[in-house]
Amino acid sequence: MYPTHYHIRQIRVEPNVVLAPMEGVTDLTFRRLIRQIGGCGMTTTEFIASEGLRRGSSKMEEMARFDADERPVAIQIYGRSPESMAEAARIIEDSGADVCDLNFGCPSKKVCAHSGGSALLKDFSLATAIVREVRKAIKIPLTVKMRSGFDHTMRNAPEVAMMCQEEGAEAIVIHWRTRTDLYGGTRAVDKIAEAKSRLKIPVIGNGDVVDFESARKMIEETGCDGVMVGRGAVKNPWVLLQIAQGLRGEPILEVDAAEKHRVLRNYIQSIRDVFRSERGALGRIKKICNYFTHGLPFGSELRTALLHSQGLDELIDHVDVYFDRLAAGGFRGSRPYELSLGAREDLAEGSAP
Ligand SMILES: Cc1cc2nc3c(=O)[nH]c(=O)nc-3n(C[C@H](O)[C@H](O)[C@H](O)COP(=O)(O)O)c2cc1C
Repeated sequence: MYPTHYHIRQIRVEPNVVLAPMEGVTDLTFRRLIRQIGGCGMTTTEFIASEGLRRGSSKMEEMARFDADERPVAIQIYGRSPESMAEAARIIEDSGADVCDLNFGCPSKKVCAHSGGSALLKDFSLATAIVREVRKAIKIPLTVKMRSGFDHTMRNAPEVAMMCQEEGAEAIVIHWRTRTDLYGGTRAVDKIAEAKSRLKIPVIGNGDVVDFESARKMIEETGCDGVMVGRGAVKNPWVLLQIAQGLRGEPILEVDAAEKHRVLRNYIQSIRDVFRSERGALGRIKKICNYFTHGLPFGSELRTALLHSQGLDELIDHVDVYFDRLAAGGFRGSRPYELSLGAREDLAEGSAP
């Protein structure tokens, strides 16, 4: 009834549920977590500055690293110079990545100020030159990820996507928001639908897909070939699997607190193993936990406790105490932490701010 796969040239993306690139989140450890859970048809690295990659920056090279069995995998680059983008794309091809993805969507001032990211949506000729030069430089499939437009007066994703197709791109991801919407705005997926109706290559719908229902709605309303999931996967790393199951008409996995605890503990350990400094690891873990604990009973109090943790051991203690008490049903009538947070009666699911 629903599509369950699509092709980027010869690459079969199955399931048609893919992980969004997220700077500061979708590093190798997070992508491993998602792959281990399953249900992810393709992963993409965080966006990587093409200039940095061509200069041989070790940070950029680290960001472009992927596991031998992480297939198919896309490496995403951004920048404004067609030559740099082409050179970075060649490095990506040499690294053995399956796909080179171009970022035409980043709304950040820093990236847009240099005409990269979503600023390319209002510079059609530069965007064209970038796709053309990159296409000439590599043989592996090329994809482009964009927003629906720069702002509400310029919702031109279908035109830009059409140009990308003509220049040789082989799949397009469209986030329904414009650059000026940032992460707010009123849901409008019409430009994804329009692009899908005009393009021959796969069009992937993105933006607020957080469960099977929202994935189904995106596919039904736009006819898109697949969905890309970002923040929803940080909050619930099982969501790609759950969406894939739903699209196949299978029962959807339910995840209990014990499993969440086990996965979070393993994930914290894997970050600990990778980061050189405790401070760096702590910052990354706090960021992930901030999403992960949404929707858990007393999740906001756990988040506050984690946020105030001075070290990793303290943070892990909070996680363990929290989940142990959750498993023991220990939150009835009492709070997990003696924090002076006022007398909010925020119980159970969905109470997180
Ligand atoms: C923390 C964060 C970092 C992001 N970094 C990138 C990035 O590096 N490249 C990119 O194309 N999009 C990036 N995005 C945008 C996401 O890929 C995605 O398009 C957006 O979050 C909408 O999808 P969602 O509602 O499923 O999160 C980022 C989003 C977030 C929240």
